[in-house]
Amino acid sequence: MSESKRYQGIIERYRDRLPVTPATQIISLAEGNTPLLRLENIERKIGHAVELYAKVEGQNPTGSFKDRGMTMAVTQAVMDGSEAIICASTGNTSASAAAYAARAGIRAFVLIPDGKIALGKLAQAMIEGAYVIQIKGNFDEGMQLVKKVASGSPLTIVNSINPYRLQGQKTAAFEIIDTLGRAPDIHGIPVGNAGNISAYWTGYSEYAGVSPATASCSFCTDACPYSEIPKVQARPRMFGYQAAGAAPFVLGEMIDDPDTVATAIRIGRPQSWDLAWAAVHESGGALASLTDEEIIQAQRMLADTEGVFCEPASAISVGGILRDVENGNIPEGSLIACTLTGHGLKDPDTAINQSGGRVIEIPAELDAVKRTIFDNL
Ligand code: F0G
Repeated sequence: MSESKRYQGIIERYRDRLPVTPATQIISLAEGNTPLLRLENIERKIGHAVELYAKVEGQNPTGSFKDRGMTMAVTQAVMDGSEAIICASTGNTSASAAAYAARAGIRAFVLIPDGKIALGKLAQAMIEGAYVIQIKGNFDEGMQLVKKVASGSPLTIVNSINPYRLQGQKTAAFEIIDTLGRAPDIHGIPVGNAGNISAYWTGYSEYAGVSPATASCSFCTDACPYSEIPKVQARPRMFGYQAAGAAPFVLGEMIDDPDTVATAIRIGRPQSWDLAWAAVHESGGALASLTDEEIIQAQRMLADTEGVFCEPASAISVGGILRDVENGNIPEGSLIACTLTGHGLKDPDTAINQSGGRVIEIPAELDAVKRTIFDNL
């Protein structure tokens, strides 16, 4: 097969918009090019005239959007001569880091929080050969430790504080515009460490030919400089959603003991604080929180209404958007894109626990099978 026809990942596809040169040796698992699915059943069900799409990032090679950033970060690390990468992670970053390190033939050290990591993610990091270090602490503590241990060492941090991560992740916004032929009016996205919302905003801004603000905005007040910036039509309003037990942006301050069923976004001290505020304010968007119950309800609805199985942290984007459509925060007629950040199989325990126990046990006899089926037809 001709190499030029084979899909070779986001760096190859968008290389003119990424920090690479012809000499760059790309480390890729053919990430990106994920489906933008129209959620027609949900549209019909809610009875509001909105066009709703999901960017299904669970279909990336390791099952989450992290792969877009990781191909860029690991490519750069290898170009810089780094022999090992390190990250703190609620799970997906560790799975992705481990996979790209394996592909590159370098080591990955991953710090994960004690007990609060979904099983699938742990399995990935382990089989992909990472050094899995479980700390008796949460993600935020892990992040501080990673920064300290990497400082002045030959380790490359591949959390989203690594600017190459955001460069790779911005390509999801490019793909959405390339697919729709325009930017959506609204973009709904989960917010944890806040790298992804910042990356999307960069991507949308680049395609619109404007630079996103990079100045700091420490918290939301009436005096916020971003509220004065004219909104550029060609960019969506960014709607970020957090879990109620881990909602520092909604509270307006960092928190110490985040907790939520959506373990991927169990984060109290987001690293991209200023960039995320800038994205929301510049775009005329909003930040809101959902309870664990609302999150699980959205996860179940996506699965049993559309056949889309995403992890709880991902479902928060659709759950939040539908609530904002319902309460009038999002106008009728809007074209909305939501990011479903990770695959549902990452967290089988939560899915089984929350599915309402839909397994029916019967004897292995024809009569019993018939009765069970025909009684439920
Ligand atoms: N959704 C999923 C499935 C995630 O894994 C994450 C972050 C987010 C949303 C939030 O994205 O941090 O860019 O705001 N997971 C990180 C990790 C923290 O370690 O895997 P963000």
